[in-house]
Order: sequence, then structure tokens, then C-alpha cells
Amino acid sequence: MINAGMIGFGTVGTGTTKILLENRDILRERIGFEINLKKIATRDIHKDRGIKLPEGMLTSDVDAVLNDPDIQIVVELIGGIIPAKDYILKAIKNGKHVVTANKALLATDGVEIFTAAQNAGVEIGFEASVAGGIPIIKVIREGLVADRIKAVYGIINGTSNYILTKMTDENVEFSVVLKDAQQLGYAEADPTLDIEGIDSAHKLAILAYLAYGIPFPFNDIYIEGISNISPQDINFASDLGYKVKLLAIAKETDGEIELRVHPTIIPKNYLISKVDGPFNAVYIDGDATGSTLYYGRGAGAMPTGSAVVSDIVNIARDIRKNVAERVPVVVKPARDVRIKNMNDITSMYYFRFSALDRPGVLSKISGVLGNYNISIASVIQKGRRVGEAVPLVVLTHEAKEKDVRMAIEEIDRLPVVMDRTVFIRVEDKEEN
Ligand code: NDP
Ligand code: HSE
Repeated sequence: MINAGMIGFGTVGTGTTKILLENRDILRERIGFEINLKKIATRDIHKDRGIKLPEGMLTSDVDAVLNDPDIQIVVELIGGIIPAKDYILKAIKNGKHVVTANKALLATDGVEIFTAAQNAGVEIGFEASVAGGIPIIKVIREGLVADRIKAVYGIINGTSNYILTKMTDENVEFSVVLKDAQQLGYAEADPTLDIEGIDSAHKLAILAYLAYGIPFPFNDIYIEGISNISPQDINFASDLGYKVKLLAIAKETDGEIELRVHPTIIPKNYLISKVDGPFNAVYIDGDATGSTLYYGRGAGAMPTGSAVVSDIVNIARDIRKNVAERVPVVVKPARDVRIKNMNDITSMYYFRFSALDRPGVLSKISGVLGNYNISIASVIQKGRRVGEAVPLVVLTHEAKEKDVRMAIEEIDRLPVVMDRTVFIRVEDKEEN
């Protein structure tokens, strides 16, 4: 029998507990021994979580888990940096293996934690930290171990995807859908992490660390969330055959790595466009395997609990066999690669100008775009209101981000442009 102890009994904690208790028999049958959840520490031991626990399992004393000599695996499910980091480091110091879903912590302090674990000869399981129920960590570490990863594109925040889907399909207001996502257990304790793209960036940092073997500085990742996406842009994009998704992108270009999270317009016929609601998807381009796509529930108690339990089982099997983990996380990178400056990336763009409906206005705008080497792919004026501002939607061919920002700055100063221009990056390979 292997004993596990858990800290944190919220959404993921209850999902994990349910699986460990209800699927105890099937787990025993599959692995040949018992996984025993011995203790759960949480702040409020009186809150009803809808699960009947064996007598004495619940405690408000975290040290009862961290210092219990019979507990070999500590599962951290409280989230945030402090005190989660202290608890994990203490568990490692006490010779315990750790399982965590804490992407915020691993994205910022991952190297310190992985180094401490390797020095202590214990494992860190973190399957639940990215894309909930999709076993994407195992895919990159083990399934694609032979590949040089060229690019990773992911919809890896269930909350944002749920909000964008409801705004697209049902025209529901942003704030109403966010409340829904919180009630359904998808959102972080602080939901600005979800809607401002930070949670996606945490997960991207972890995926890129594994894909390229380099712990990139989290603060160098370009991050833009969905809070400024308006129903108007979703509708215009839809009329043009596109959808708006919050994409996390890691790709190697010109010896540098692009790491960016931002709303992205993608053709409706892309598989990833069909990933709706709280679902996540990760597309990986490897030099040997080519393209692969992984899809599933990215948030919520049971899918994430399943990922946590799979880590517990993996580690328990390693303990029983007395072997080390199969593919360790690199803590001393063999190469130093920089994150590409956002100004140097190239992309296609969607612009929505708020321009006066008057002859000659389009030529003024296209003149500025031309001066910055931005070539127009298509233009649509939405509506007709002579002498008033109307939305003018422009799709471009590939352009440099720096040129786009300078062009927009200049265009927004034109007397015929009445409001700030909206721009959204477009990923559409067929346009290239
Ligand atoms: P919740 O807020 O639902 O649960 C957090 C739990 O931690 C609560 O039970 C809380 O106690 C407990 N807790 C907080 N601080 C302490 C402390 N100092 N000591 C002891 N217990 C503490 O969070 P989630 O379950 O949603 O998330 C947990 C982790 O999983 C986070 O890192 C999150 O990012 C990650 N994650 C979440 C997913 C999801 O779908 N929700 C998916 C993937 C990852 P109490 O309830 O007693 O007050
Ligand atoms: N808040 C996260 C999301 C939970 O919405 O994707 C899963 O990591």
C-alpha cells in the first residue's frame, strides 16, 4: 500500500478524493496494490463538500500531512505561490514525492522546485497543471520525446474558451458568462488570471519548458487576454468565416522562441476552431511526428482530479519498483535561447477602424498601411452612415508587429479616424 496525503480540498481536491475513494477497486486491480488517501488538510474542515470521508481523514493542520512518516506522496491543491511553495519544499525536504496542479507556481518557480526534488531524489507530478484531463505533459515528456518540437498552439484556458463560445453562439454578455464559469468550477480563485491570459501563459511556460528544455523567464511572455474582445469583433470575424480564440503559442523561429498568448482569429474550418466551451486543445508540430492534436476537458473537478490521480499512480508505481521517473525535467539547459521580442514577430492581422463614412478615407488609411509595408488582403465597410463613423474591417497579409503598431498609431491620429483601432492577430496558413 502507498499512502498519499492531500493539502487543499476545493474543486480539484474534491474531484481527486472522489476518484480515489470511488475507483479504489479499479485502481487496485490495474496496478496491483492499494493507493490509500490517508489525510486531507484544508482550512475549513466543517464546510460541506458533498463527500463522506472516513473518520479522522480531515485535518486543519497541514503539518499533519507534511510530517506524517507514513505519507510518501503529498498532493498540493491549494494554488497560488505562498504558502503552496513552502509546503512543497517542506514535503521535498521530508523526502516525500509531490503531485501538484499549481501551474502559477511551476511557471514562476519551477526550476527551484524541480532542482530541489532532483537533489532529494523525489518526483514532482504535474499532469494536472496544464489542460486538465488531457494528458499533455506525458505526451510531451514521453510520447514525443524523440521529436524536436517546432511549434505548440493551445486553447488552454477553459474559462476564456467558455466565455468566448457563449459570446459567439448565444450573444451572452461577458460578465454573465464569467459568473457561470466560476459557478461551474472552471475559473481560478482570482478570475482575472483566466480572462487576462495569465493562466494560459502559466501553462504555456510549462509546455515550452518541456518542449524546448529551457525554463523561460515568465515575465518575458507576451500576454493579452480576452477582456477587450467585443461581440462586434466576434460577429465581424464570423461573417468573414473566422472565430476568435484565446491561443497560447510557442514556436521556434530564426533561432528564437516566440512565446505569446493573445486572442487570435482562426478560420472556422480549422479543427481547433471547433474546440468550444470549457474544452481545451493542444496542437503540436514535431519534426519527426508531424502534427498531432489533443482535445479534452481542460478544467473542472473530475477531469483535473483524474490527472492528479494518474500522477499519484505513476509515482506510487515508481516507489514500488524503486525506480526514478522516466524522463526527468531538465534543470540545467543545454542551450540558451531567447524569447523573441514581440515587435519582431510576423502575423496576419484583423483591423477594425472607426472611420468617417466619406470618400477618400480608405485611401488615407491604406496609404499609411502601405508606408509600413502592410499589404491588405480584404476590406469590408460595415454599414453606411454618410459623414458619421462606421466600422471599416481590414484583413492583412503577413506583416511585422512593429510596423503594425507604428501604422496604427499614425492612423489613430488621422482626423477621419474617430476611435482607437482594434487589431487582432490572425492565424490562417492557407492565406500564406
Ligand atoms: P479551490 O479554491 O477550489 O480550492 C483550494 C483549496 O485549498 C480550498 O479547499 C482551500 O481551503 C484550500 N486552501 C487554501 N489555502 C490553504 C492553506 N493555506 N492551507 C490549507 N488549505 C488551503 O481551488 P481549485 O481546486 O480550483 O484549484 C487548486 C489548484 O488546482 C490551483 O493551483 C489551480 O490553479 C489548479 N487547477 C484548477 C483547475 C480547476 O478546474 N479548478 C484545473 C487545473 C488546475 P478551504 O476550502 O478549506 O477554505
Ligand atoms: N482556470 C483554469 C481554466 C482551470 O479555466 O482553464 C484549469 O487549469
